[in-house]
Amino acid sequence: MSYVLGIDLGTSSLKGLLMDKNGEVIFTYAAEYGLDTPKPGYSEQRPEFWITAAEIVLTEMSLKVPDFGSRLEGISFSGQMHSLVILGEDKKPLYPAILWNDVRTTEECKTIMAEAGDLVKDLTKNIALEGFTLPKMLWLQKNEPAVWANVKHFMLPKDYLGFWMTGELWSDYSDAAGTLLLDLEKSDWAWPIADKFNIPREIFPQLTSGSGKVGELKAELRERFGITNTVPVFAGGADNACAALGAGIVKDGIGWASIGTSGVFGAFEPSAEKSYGGLPHLFNHVVDNSYYSMGVTLAAGNSLDWFLNTFAPGESYKALDEIYTVAPGSDGLIFTPYIVGERTPHPDAQIRGSFLGIDTHHERKHFARAVLEGITFSLKDSQALMERIAGKKFTKIISVGGGAKNPDWLQMQADIFNASIVTLTVEQGPGQGAAMLAAMGAGWFATAEDCAATFVKYKDYEYTPKAANVATYEKMYSIYAKAYDATKEISHELQGEF
Ligand code: XUL
Repeated sequence: MSYVLGIDLGTSSLKGLLMDKNGEVIFTYAAEYGLDTPKPGYSEQRPEFWITAAEIVLTEMSLKVPDFGSRLEGISFSGQMHSLVILGEDKKPLYPAILWNDVRTTEECKTIMAEAGDLVKDLTKNIALEGFTLPKMLWLQKNEPAVWANVKHFMLPKDYLGFWMTGELWSDYSDAAGTLLLDLEKSDWAWPIADKFNIPREIFPQLTSGSGKVGELKAELRERFGITNTVPVFAGGADNACAALGAGIVKDGIGWASIGTSGVFGAFEPSAEKSYGGLPHLFNHVVDNSYYSMGVTLAAGNSLDWFLNTFAPGESYKALDEIYTVAPGSDGLIFTPYIVGERTPHPDAQIRGSFLGIDTHHERKHFARAVLEGITFSLKDSQALMERIAGKKFTKIISVGGGAKNPDWLQMQADIFNASIVTLTVEQGPGQGAAMLAAMGAGWFATAEDCAATFVKYKDYEYTPKAANVATYEKMYSIYAKAYDATKEISHELQGEF
C-alpha cells in the first residue's frame, strides 16, 4: 500500500501523519517546541526549531514504519497562519518568526486601515488585525530597519518547511490569504497594497494551489531518512483551511465548529463575491477555486480551562458532571468569554469577560454551564453574521476539537446553532487535511470531494436540536448579544492601571 505524509506545523508542536490510500492512519508522531515572549504581547519562534522537529518526526517514522522508505508517494503541509518568516541573501532566517498570536502591531494596523482601508477590504476582503502578516512587515520596517533592508524573501511557516525539503520558494493561496497581501478573487498577490506599503515585489514567493507541486524531496534528505524513490512535495495550506478539508468541508451548505484553546466557526464559500468586510474573515480554501469564511473566539476551551482551574481546582470532572443538572439557560446566568479580548464579531483586544445576572440561588454548576453556553454563543455570533450578511442557512455543522468530545456539549451546540451536529470517527485535525492535499497532488483522487469521500469518516449518530431548548437559547442569545456593548466601556476602563 502507498503512503502520503501530512505535516502539521502548529504553534506548539509539529505533527506528522502517515496515511494510506484508504484514508487509514498508519503512523503519527509529534515533536514539541516552545514559544518566546521577549516582551508582553510578543510571540516568536525560531524557524530552525521547526526543522529540528521535522527531523525528529521523519527519523521516528523511518525507524518505526518498515516500508516508509519505499512507499511514500507525496508530502504536504498544514501550517499556523499569518506568522512572518524572513530570509536574507543566503536564504537563512534573518529574524525569529513573528507569530500569529503576537499583538505588537496595533499601531501598524491603524496605519494600514487609515491609509489604505478601502483597498485592503476590496482586494483582500479582510481588515488589518494584529495577527496578520502585513502589519508585522510594517513593524519591522519601522523598528528593525537594518533587518528589513536585508530581507530577500518572505514566507509563511509551512513554506519554510517546504523550502527546507525542496530548495524551492513557494506559498499557496490559502496561506497567502492570511497575509493581507493577497487579491482573493484573482488568487494573485495584491500588488497595489504591496507597492503602497513599500514591500518589494521581489521578496514574494510564487503561488500555487494547496495540492500544487513545489518540488521533490532533496536527495540528501531521502538518504538521511532511508527513502529510495523520488517524492513529490506539494504546497499545503493554512491550518484552518486544512482542518476544514480534514472535516470534509468541501462543498456549500456545511459549517464547522472547532473548539480548542480558541474556537472557530467556519463555512465553505463557493465564491469571494459576498464580502463580509473582514468579520468574519474570508480566505481562499485549499479546495481549488473556493473560499471559506471563519469567525474566531479567542478564548473558547481557554475559558473553560480558566474556570475549572480557578473555581474547581483538582475536581474539574466533578464540576463538569454537575453542569448537566442545570437546565439550558443556566437559570438566567450569562458568561461572555472575552477573557483574553475578542476577535469575531468584536475585534477588541481590551474587552474582558463578565458573568451577568448573578443571583443568590446560583451555584458553581450554574457558572460552569454558563461558561459552556457563553463559548457556544460566541461561536453563534459568527454563524449569525454569516446568516445575516450572506443569507446562509446551516442545517448541518461538523463539530471538531475539545467541544466534540463531550456528548452534552454536542447537544448544547445542536440546540444553540439550531442545526444537526455531526462528529468524525477519528479526528486528526489539520494534519489530515495536509495528507489529503498530498493524496490529491499525487493523483490518487481527481477532486477534493472524491478524496473526502475516502478519507473523512463521520459517526452515524447526529445530535439534533430539541425544540424547547432552541426556544430557550434563542431568548438567552438575544440577551447575550447585547452584553458586548453593555460591558465595553466598563471593561476598557478596568484595563487601565490600578
Ligand atoms: C487564524 C489564526 C489562528 C492560526 C493558528 O486566523 O490566527 O487560527 O491559524 O495557527
